[in-house]
Amino acid sequence: PVNKPLGGKLAIVTAGPTIEHIDPVRYISNHSSGKMGIAIAEALADAGANVQLVLGPTPQQTSHPDITTTRIQTAQEMFEAVTTRFSQADIVVAAAAVADYRPANIADKKIKKGEAQLHIDLEKTPDILRSLGDTKAPQQLLVGFSLETNNEKEYALKKLREKHLDMIVMNSLADAGAGFNYDTNKITLFDKNGREQSFPLKSKQAVAQDIVSAIIELQHA
Ligand code: C5P
Repeated sequence: PVNKPLGGKLAIVTAGPTIEHIDPVRYISNHSSGKMGIAIAEALADAGANVQLVLGPTPQQTSHPDITTTRIQTAQEMFEAVTTRFSQADIVVAAAAVADYRPANIADKKIKKGEAQLHIDLEKTPDILRSLGDTKAPQQLLVGFSLETNNEKEYALKKLREKHLDMIVMNSLADAGAGFNYDTNKITLFDKNGREQSFPLKSKQAVAQDIVSAIIELQHA
């Protein structure tokens, strides 16, 4: 039907931050609220998709009837939640701000304060989106995000290419009203066919509509 262009499709959306444990009381994380990813999950569901939302620790949530939420904490847990569902998915939107590094060892007791400096060794977390890009079937549509403070376009196009994405959503922390915890965002979309679309500052709900429209167009391109 015209009003349910994604009817019968399964979409996976990652959203929110991850947290990476240091010891039983401390962690490393970032300022992601999950609002953009949740808005995308809702827009995909409104377009008829069945949506699996893999959501990191945030007070934000959705009660949309066509969205199933799986709560995770760490990048490793997000990786497992996404990869077990991936083969069924038609569309994946990776809007999560996944921690790039985690403590190489998690202390099993609270680290005590001492006189000297404390050093924590960090190791890389799995790059979820890159591993999906490396294993995806041709008809699966992968959308990533690029949030940078400088050289935004160059980095966005590099990620689009290197992670084998179909589309990337670029937003910049340099734009007023865009990014973490705002209810608004300003994006540019780049797709694998070389199309570039810039949008003005809008509510995250309206931005999500633009992203979903671009996904629907790309499916028919
Ligand atoms: O390379 P960078 O982390 O900036 O790429 C951002 C994109 O990759 C986002 O779509 C993010 O959700 C995804 N990502 C991921 N797993 C990671 C790091 C980033 O899925 N470990």
